[in-house]
Amino acid sequence: MTESRNSNTYPPTAEFAAQANVTAADYEAAAEDRLGFWADKARSLVDWKTPFTETLDWSNPPFARWFGDGQLNVAANCLDRHVEAGNGDRVAIHFEGEPGDSRSITYAELTTEVKKAANALASLGVSQGDRVAIYMPMIPETVIAMLACARLGAAHSVVFGGFSADALHSRILDAEARVVITADGGYRRGKPSSLKPAVDAALAKGDTPVDHVVVVERTGEDVAWVEGRDKKWADVVGQQSEEHEAEAFDAENPLFVLYTSGTTGKPKGILHTSGGYLTQSTYSVFATFDLKPETDVFWCTADVGWVTGHTYIVYGPLSAGATQVIYEGTPDTPDKGRWWSIVEKYGVSILYTAPTAIRTCMKWGDDIPAQYDLSSLRLLGSVGEPINPEAWTWYRRVIGGDRCPVIDTWWQTETGAHMIAPMPGLVPTKPGSSQRALPGISVKIFDDEGQSLGNDQPGLLVIDEPWPAMLRGVYGDPERYKDTYWSRFDGIYFAGDGARFDEDGDIWFLGRVDDVMNVSGHRLSTAEIESSLVAHDAVAEAAVVGAADETSGQAVYAFVILRAEVEETDDMEEKLRAHVGSDIGPIAKPKRIHIVDELPKTRSGKIVRRLLKDLAENKGVGDSSTLADASVMDLISQQVSSS
Ligand code: PRX
Repeated sequence: MTESRNSNTYPPTAEFAAQANVTAADYEAAAEDRLGFWADKARSLVDWKTPFTETLDWSNPPFARWFGDGQLNVAANCLDRHVEAGNGDRVAIHFEGEPGDSRSITYAELTTEVKKAANALASLGVSQGDRVAIYMPMIPETVIAMLACARLGAAHSVVFGGFSADALHSRILDAEARVVITADGGYRRGKPSSLKPAVDAALAKGDTPVDHVVVVERTGEDVAWVEGRDKKWADVVGQQSEEHEAEAFDAENPLFVLYTSGTTGKPKGILHTSGGYLTQSTYSVFATFDLKPETDVFWCTADVGWVTGHTYIVYGPLSAGATQVIYEGTPDTPDKGRWWSIVEKYGVSILYTAPTAIRTCMKWGDDIPAQYDLSSLRLLGSVGEPINPEAWTWYRRVIGGDRCPVIDTWWQTETGAHMIAPMPGLVPTKPGSSQRALPGISVKIFDDEGQSLGNDQPGLLVIDEPWPAMLRGVYGDPERYKDTYWSRFDGIYFAGDGARFDEDGDIWFLGRVDDVMNVSGHRLSTAEIESSLVAHDAVAEAAVVGAADETSGQAVYAFVILRAEVEETDDMEEKLRAHVGSDIGPIAKPKRIHIVDELPKTRSGKIVRRLLKDLAENKGVGDSSTLADASVMDLISQQVSSS
């Protein structure tokens, strides 16, 4: 493991260090009294209606209660308190629509809109303890809808707009959502892209407890209408009072359920609650991004359908009082300079994006960003997958003008907020490494037996102390929560990532150690795509692997055996890809589907995916000695090279 020895580090400039929010004192305070550190952060960064007296109740692990006897309203923390502090005129959101329309919304205006939306949802019967599904494009109403739920103490379950009707249906059922908030569509790649038809199709499948669908008009396209069930956002929200008293809820009141892929076929509903999540989200915005709410303009390019959007578009930045940009569309519409024109237009100072996007921009060439004034930038963040040192250094040099720290943040849907990242202003950054746990966070690298490993030994990343933004469970399935995260090492959180400390004690991520793939920073499970393929009439067996890909980090490759009676046709691969697309969503479509006669299996019938991965990565046929029939790989290899 030599890459870190060869890599330069980039110390913060003296100027940056002098103004940084996090200093060595944070680490010292957290090391001395971890719970005291978090209690201080909860008191100083969050407004409580009822102050808490107990920081952590870990008497029934792995079920944690943080700040358990405190009460707060999360939405009021993101809105009203900034208005009350005299910052109502500060812009909360600069919205940039893909077609070029834009709107700037102040904290005072956003507060009013959320109050009206909360009144509207209450008029539809939504109250504390309910769930509301949100299936939306990237527009301000999405944020307003989420905060309106939070204001009422109801949990939202946002479903990424790229997911299919089937995926939406299963999430609505699992979360038992009573109301769906959607839009006619959004703009994508220069055209309207519909959403409401998928909601109609999902609800037509039946059995859902949904009795209201609220539809935002974004594209103005015609949509089918179910009288009595469907309501226009403009009608139902427009007529509401601008007054709404925010009730305080328990710190452990559910805030949201967000579905994520695991190692089995069925996505898990990750449950997050209020006080601890808000504390760590807010802290991390100040710590990792060094946010100065009065002067910074923050832009997180994620979609709100993922956890990054929840924590770093909605709750973290708004609770911190930030001014941020929300952009609806793709980076290459109408041209490949779109992102950089947005940075220039709004004077973005902190940019947070994913390695896939960085690698794509890198491929498009340095001359595109060079046409824009990017001098407002002062910090660059990365998230979602390991960032290769080449992309890291390009990001720093070309986008950051060699002056901005590049902060690689490691975390997960389950962790709720940043867990590992170099604190800018304190730690010299190192291309490709996420480096250190945040103050107050404790991680280790274990071997298979649960022994803590030292430097330069690859192992499994674990989190050995509870943290405020940790998931509180898998919705409706406490056993799955215990089994998935806490059983590999008793009482210790197993993240599913391989990692190692280098000789400086900095953390390098080595990818997932389970059957979870990471495509463009999005989590996909091999099992979920395999079960989708096997559900197709033509398919007898399927094996799915994530193979290294230059742009997307990993790409999905599938190997399928057709049923005996099915004849292979030229369009079979395309048909199966389309099937996965409509079953799960376009992001899950395999890059290639190879039709083969056999799959490599051990004597006990287990598919050896490692061999298929080598093949997909053009590494040839690896060691096949564990197979029941070693010649199978040669056959598959021939079929793959001729397809
Ligand atoms: O494998 C890790 C990878 O993404 C997984 C979490 O995915 P998800 O829950 O969808 O959340 C993504 C956004 C937080 C992790 O288990 N991952 C995330 N960030 C990094 C990363 N791998 C390496 N470096 C990162 N910075």
